Amino acid sequence: EKGGYDYFMLKEIAEQPKAVADTLLGRIDAAGSLSLDEVRIPTAELREVDKVVIVACGTAFHAGLIAKYAIEHWTRIPCEVELASEFRYRDPILDSRSLVIAISQSGETMDTLMALRHAREQGSKVLAICNTNGSTIPRESDAVLYTHAGPEVAVASTKAFLTQLVACYLVALYLGQVRGTKWGDEISAVIRDLSHISGEVERVLETMEPVRALARSLADKNTVLFLGRHVGYPVALEGALKLKELAYMHAEGFAAGELKHGPIALIEEDLPVVVVVPSPRGRSVLHDKIVSNIQEIRARGARTIVIAEEGDETVVPYADHLIRIPATPTLLQPLVATVPLQVFACELATARGNEVDQPRNLAKSVTVE
Ligand code: M6R
Repeated sequence: EKGGYDYFMLKEIAEQPKAVADTLLGRIDAAGSLSLDEVRIPTAELREVDKVVIVACGTAFHAGLIAKYAIEHWTRIPCEVELASEFRYRDPILDSRSLVIAISQSGETMDTLMALRHAREQGSKVLAICNTNGSTIPRESDAVLYTHAGPEVAVASTKAFLTQLVACYLVALYLGQVRGTKWGDEISAVIRDLSHISGEVERVLETMEPVRALARSLADKNTVLFLGRHVGYPVALEGALKLKELAYMHAEGFAAGELKHGPIALIEEDLPVVVVVPSPRGRSVLHDKIVSNIQEIRARGARTIVIAEEGDETVVPYADHLIRIPATPTLLQPLVATVPLQVFACELATARGNEVDQPRNLAKSVTVE
């Protein structure tokens, strides 16, 4: 049942190209328009939406953080992302013009379910992004967009995360289409790139051997830090979460711009720091800033593990280890940048003798608040 792999997690990492392709299947027509018939919220209502609120937990929350960038950029609708467990306790401002998106692989996470119930009580429409057919969260939502990752068995979420991202991009683009915002060349280019992304994920998977070797060499470390900016920041958070749950190491993700506001004090000799570098095209200001951050932490002794686009030569002098990912539009980069972090965490867990599919103290779906 593990298809020749030692762990479900390895199998699920390897299945990502297909999971991504399956989640796109039938949702973009030949003309490059989105057809999301499942989203049974009348388009007239979607046009009235004045705020999007995303609720989710853990890895699904990280997908939501990335979705915010896409939704706000492509639709210009303000978007908030909130940990489902915090949501209803702070008396959130919701009404019938708020669209609440609940993201959950299992569809059974109690915190997310309670958040969506609260939203519906306030009269908001709820759209679920879910991987499990007929589970509670989609049943209690107004509409559902299923991710087609197939069953995810390993406790650590991998392919579900990538498909959640794809589903979020589709929703963002769909909202843009329905509302007629930003519907031009940029969007057509993104749709084209999205339809090729499964092949790019495949290419990343083919180059993971050095990442595994690197992970093994760090097995006796206590701490790994992760830095990113823009959509790379949630990727850093996701890399840190994977490492916590699988390798039981102290791992923290930071927005690189925050370094000088505190975290840089943590840098010491030979501390591994993973840096997710934004594309030098697109938001090049951020790219240059993060290259300076890499220089700063390296000057203080950090061992820099740099994830950067193919062809980005500016990072080479400052990278103790360089992990290459294919060039993608900025907003889609998390689909390729996350994969090495999954492989890294999985290999570190194995090297430390941990149970990969069933980490201690964790359950696949958390059905208590
Ligand atoms: O089933 P859900 O997507 O609602 O689960 C949410 C989190 O419990 C889940 O993503 C958790 O953080 C994973 N173990 C992370 O790998």
